[in-house]
Amino acid sequence: MYFQWYPGHMTKAKRMMQENMKLVDLVIELVDARIPFSSRNPDIDELGRGKARVVLLNKSDLAEERWNDAWSRYFEEKGFLTVKVNSKKGSGMKAIQTVIGEACKEKIERDRKRGILNRPVRAMVVGIPNVGKSTFINALAGKACTKTGNKPGVTKGKQWIRLNRQVELLDTPGILWPKFEDQKVGLCLALIGSIKDEILNTEELAMELIQFMQEKYPGALEEKYHMEAADDSYEMLKGIAKSRHCLVRGNELDVEKAAALLLDDFRNGKLGRITLETCQNKDENERQLRGREDGEA
Ligand code: G4P
Repeated sequence: MYFQWYPGHMTKAKRMMQENMKLVDLVIELVDARIPFSSRNPDIDELGRGKARVVLLNKSDLAEERWNDAWSRYFEEKGFLTVKVNSKKGSGMKAIQTVIGEACKEKIERDRKRGILNRPVRAMVVGIPNVGKSTFINALAGKACTKTGNKPGVTKGKQWIRLNRQVELLDTPGILWPKFEDQKVGLCLALIGSIKDEILNTEELAMELIQFMQEKYPGALEEKYHMEAADDSYEMLKGIAKSRHCLVRGNELDVEKAAALLLDDFRNGKLGRITLETCQNKDENERQLRGREDGEA
């Protein structure tokens, strides 16, 4: 399976990000807790140089708790203040207020020394499309003040949301572009639904998921779909089609429908809390990825 990303989008996103970055003191970066590595664009480290930084593991309700904790430690060891959140339910928001205060201590102190008092800290939420930026802003602000939905850029113009006396949040989230250099990253993004399904082969993607599930969560699919284990992924897909009565023309199994159903179940957490990407060996992977880019430049 081959994934493509369009440089045009990338250039525009980067320009917007650079402009907005000038306006803020703090960058709140959202990653998807199921794929914290692949849903993160490390270019933000360069773009956000000199800013206070917070990393949020969003959609933590869909990922395994032990890996949420492991990833939190991973980011904390890298020097980021980190919080696990579920923006859809609004959990983790209190902890964020505390962490924002902590992240901005230095700036508030610097201002105080210069005689500037009570100037609010300005923050911006960033992340790749669909990671939950708008949902998070709504949850943090406590009311529906930005539109949510899978349409990056629905909010236009610069507006600030006053979170409290000390913090203001840019109402427009910064859109980071996913990194597609590594096909594994592309696969992870496709599995969580961050790449439009129309440009993907649903069956192939579902078979990748089956392979992963059989390896890391053995027995989970058999239990969920009340079916027997099969030797290969396509047979498993057929088993799901049979169990869920996905049929075409009378009695023929509709494997494509079963593939879509499986992916939907996974994305909505109906297969349980699943972490696709663990943090073991992540630093090594990152070095390799960066090394390849440096080589290309
Ligand atoms: P974006 O601004 O970064 O592009 O993302 P957005 O807020 O639009 O969220 C994308 C999808 O992710 C939404 O689902 C949203 O509900 C869901 N989401 C955001 N945060 C969380 C979370 O912490 N946990 C879970 N489980 N889901 C989250 P959607 O299918 O587009 O819409 P809907 O489900 O709200 O109808």
